[in-house]
Amino acid sequence: MRTSLLILLTLIPAFMHANDTHSCARPQEIAVRHLSLKLSLNFEKKIAEGSAVLRLERKPGFHDFWVDTKQLDIQSVVDEHGNNLKYELQQEKHWMGRPLKIVLNDNTQSVNIAYSTTPESAALQWLSPEQTEGKKHPFLFTQGQAILSRTWMPIQDSPGIRFTWDAAISVPQDLMAVMSGNNPQEKSADGEYVFRMNQPVPAYLVALAVGDLAFEKLSDRTGVYAEPSMLTRAASELEDMEKMLVAAEALYGTYQWGRYDVIVLPPSFPFGGMENPRLTFATPTIIAGDRSLTSLIAHELAHSWSGNLVTNVTWNDFWLNEGFTVYFERRIMESLYGKDYADMLAVLGFQDLQETLEELGAQSDDTKLKLALEGRDADDGMNDIAYEKGYLFLTSIEKKVGRTAFDAFVKGYFKEFAFSSISTEDFVKYLNRRLKLSEGVDLLANEWIYLPGIPAGIEAPVSLRFMQVDAVLKSWTSGEIPATGLVVNGWTTHEWLQFIRHLPASLTDAQMKELDATFGLTKSGNSEIQFAWFMAVIPNHYVTADASLEAFLRRVGRRKFVLPLYTAMLKDERLSAQARAIYKDARTGYHAVTMQSLDELFAKK
Ligand code: BES
Ligand code: ZN
Repeated sequence: MRTSLLILLTLIPAFMHANDTHSCARPQEIAVRHLSLKLSLNFEKKIAEGSAVLRLERKPGFHDFWVDTKQLDIQSVVDEHGNNLKYELQQEKHWMGRPLKIVLNDNTQSVNIAYSTTPESAALQWLSPEQTEGKKHPFLFTQGQAILSRTWMPIQDSPGIRFTWDAAISVPQDLMAVMSGNNPQEKSADGEYVFRMNQPVPAYLVALAVGDLAFEKLSDRTGVYAEPSMLTRAASELEDMEKMLVAAEALYGTYQWGRYDVIVLPPSFPFGGMENPRLTFATPTIIAGDRSLTSLIAHELAHSWSGNLVTNVTWNDFWLNEGFTVYFERRIMESLYGKDYADMLAVLGFQDLQETLEELGAQSDDTKLKLALEGRDADDGMNDIAYEKGYLFLTSIEKKVGRTAFDAFVKGYFKEFAFSSISTEDFVKYLNRRLKLSEGVDLLANEWIYLPGIPAGIEAPVSLRFMQVDAVLKSWTSGEIPATGLVVNGWTTHEWLQFIRHLPASLTDAQMKELDATFGLTKSGNSEIQFAWFMAVIPNHYVTADASLEAFLRRVGRRKFVLPLYTAMLKDERLSAQARAIYKDARTGYHAVTMQSLDELFAKK
């Protein structure tokens, strides 16, 4: 039974092709090769208005050009000869949006689409001055991944379609615009900014941020953008960026994108980080003051290879982006800070994976690396499986073939597929071709990729430093040693996370108070520690922290934090009404991505 199933599974790849069900585009017929964007921003109306010129590659015989749009106002479509083209916006299909069909003339090589975004456009978050650090100027940022780029530009919004682009962006004079391309380091005199990206990228990697920004150089090719009042802290936190870049290049080859900068955004940014080429977008919640949360930067930097250079061809292959990136991120951290450090990250990641497996059920299709997201929003299947199961799979290969062979393989993989979008099946073919296995060694690739859960016999990562933490925790929970007597000097954020995550849910108020008074957890300036602590505060009914928890939920919009917190509060009788009240009030301050997940959560209960 088992054998025949595996034989069947090995046949699957032959029948698969990279059909992206999350885009209406038909790139085999007509594909975008270059985008020229011209936009002027109106912060009062919360819209961007202008045009997108799409230069096309056409197969003979096809005239219908399919473009993804959502929450856009399309005003006209003209070709390069000045001819108006017939176009038709199709019915809205929830997450897909409204496919735009443009009828091309025989001689049309490019189309100019005049359009504006709408205040509903989900990729864009328009922030009031109060939502920024400086409180004086408004702010705007975009978030394209997974399928939101179509809400701020009419485009073939599929990770399998790559194009070069340029942009002219007009903003209020006191603001600076930056993009996922070549960037200014100072404000322009007139609010006009031009950008370009000469390497082909998919639509989800085109991004824009506008605000009262300043730049600080970190090395000749790295630097940081942030609001002026945040800049010094941001620059000091990210001081090791050049070292990360050097380590990354030593591992898997030359960085291909020229500069590597980071912009630290206001706290409503819905993710920890987003790997926009040349300019990672980051949450300010990584600024801890002690550089302890910078593995996130290593992660986004690693995407410059896995994700941006070699891209998942559809969102079903998302693990190719994230699994490789988590593996690469931990290798960067290992080379900078040692194996001990990377081991802690691996163990925390494994805990996240266990939790996700429990939530989804180990037999759930969503626990397969190769996803089947047809008929669903791409965002729905994106969870820790791609990251942590993907990481474990790659680690298991490394263990079987040895690090030297595996590193050569990964380096070759980035070289072979640079600037292209590939499927899981392309990866497997390359794996089979390039990794010579010793007798009796089986990578179990089919099982890892096409079956749910984790293959039997996989060992959990271990951390020696965490074993000490566990002992310290035990000596406290058993009543043997009071909090003030615990030996915690030298603990990094990660050891604290291990400690806090394993606190029982049955502590007394006196015990919670004791920890809090000794270690200042409620008032911690470290967002990861605060988050983990609040997750313990909720089931332990530690009333003292309620106000700080509420303040955190109102300030921070990072989905990874607020979704689990609201979820836990809703499950708790004491806090569920309060969760609803806070969300009702804070909702419009969140980015659409976070809002959508929270709306679903609050509708469920
Ligand atoms: N590319 C992701 C963010 C993303 C994923 C956006 C899916 C939209 C859809 C980014 O690289 C990422 O993984 N960010 C993580 C941080 C990382 C250290 C695990 C995050 O935002 O928490
Ligand atoms: Zn990532």
